[in-house]
Amino acid sequence: MKKAVSRKNQIIPYGYHEVGKEEEQAVKKILRGRYLTQGNAVEEFEKSLCEFTNSRYAVVVSSGTAALHLAMISLCNPGDRILTSPLTFVATVNSISYANAIPVFNDVSIETYLLEPDLSMKYKGAIIVHFAGLPNTCNEWKNFDGWIVEDAAHSLGAERLVNNKWQQIGHSRYSIATILSFHPVKSITTCEGGAILTSDRNLADELRKLRSHCISSRKGYLYEIEKVGFNYRLSDLNCAIGIEQLKKLPKFMEKRREIAYRYIEELRNVEEIILPIEHEEVRSAWHLFPVRIKNRDRIYRQLLDNNIKCQVHYIPVYKFSLYKHLYKDLPNVEKIFASELSLPIFPALSKTQQNRVIEILKSNFLKTKR
Ligand SMILES: Cc1ncc(COP(=O)(O)O)c(C=O)c1O
Repeated sequence: MKKAVSRKNQIIPYGYHEVGKEEEQAVKKILRGRYLTQGNAVEEFEKSLCEFTNSRYAVVVSSGTAALHLAMISLCNPGDRILTSPLTFVATVNSISYANAIPVFNDVSIETYLLEPDLSMKYKGAIIVHFAGLPNTCNEWKNFDGWIVEDAAHSLGAERLVNNKWQQIGHSRYSIATILSFHPVKSITTCEGGAILTSDRNLADELRKLRSHCISSRKGYLYEIEKVGFNYRLSDLNCAIGIEQLKKLPKFMEKRREIAYRYIEELRNVEEIILPIEHEEVRSAWHLFPVRIKNRDRIYRQLLDNNIKCQVHYIPVYKFSLYKHLYKDLPNVEKIFASELSLPIFPALSKTQQNRVIEILKSNFLKTKR
């Protein structure tokens, strides 16, 4: 017989989805309706994404990786050099490889973990990752000579202050496209799913074709195919969940912010922990709560022994054998990799659960100071 885990000791993941009756009802409606895929829910979800982010076009696809893939093959030629951060999930870098372009890494800011622009070399473009939900608003990017794609897999719901007005991620001043992911640990979920937001009509048309085999100009049973496309469609079932999730996003953001500010309040006096920052021109989506911490590996194991599943974000991509040829000496990336720990943060994280995390961290450091 399985041993019951006491409530006190239940597993706390680092991220978790929150779905309810509304999503259940929406899924039921699709299952009882006429279309499981390519019906009205797809368009409706795309419209809701445009309204929420104030972006002109949204193209939903089967994952954030698919979104990155389609964006890169639309924007790159083989051999193009694309600047990006090695402090990301491998999907960001793989998408450049899919297009036979060349990923080039630069260092990140030690305070924000966000990619610094490299203005000394010529690049076709850059993928900037809004790490942990924090928008990269580094002013120097305005001088970058190439297109910019925002990998906002972490940051739907994040905002930046532009001309004294708060703007949602996705409504961009300087990027050609913004990529979203709807994996269950993200701001909202469709189970698996992703989207590309853009103000460029031609790009949006191209992406729509690419996600469905590049089929064009249907006439009766005849249709034309001009180039290799994919089946990266997102089903109505997924989109119906997404529509309900998006309605809840402001509440989710409120909860995530509450949890983040509580960590900050409780841990700000612990010298051995460096807390994440959020300057006054941005509001993070708090996808992650990354701290830099002394004795990271020991504390990681201690938390795990107490059923608290923290994560390290990220193993720098150039450490994988696939990308070791792209290694560069990037001191901030190395420092972050050596000390970063992402503490649990998700809308349903209770105060009691958060206290378990805080107590373990405090007990490690505060007692050694006395
Ligand atoms: C920064 C970043 N980009 C892209 C992706 C890929 O998204 P998906 O899992 O939806 O394919 C992820 C996934 O975690 C991510 O963290």
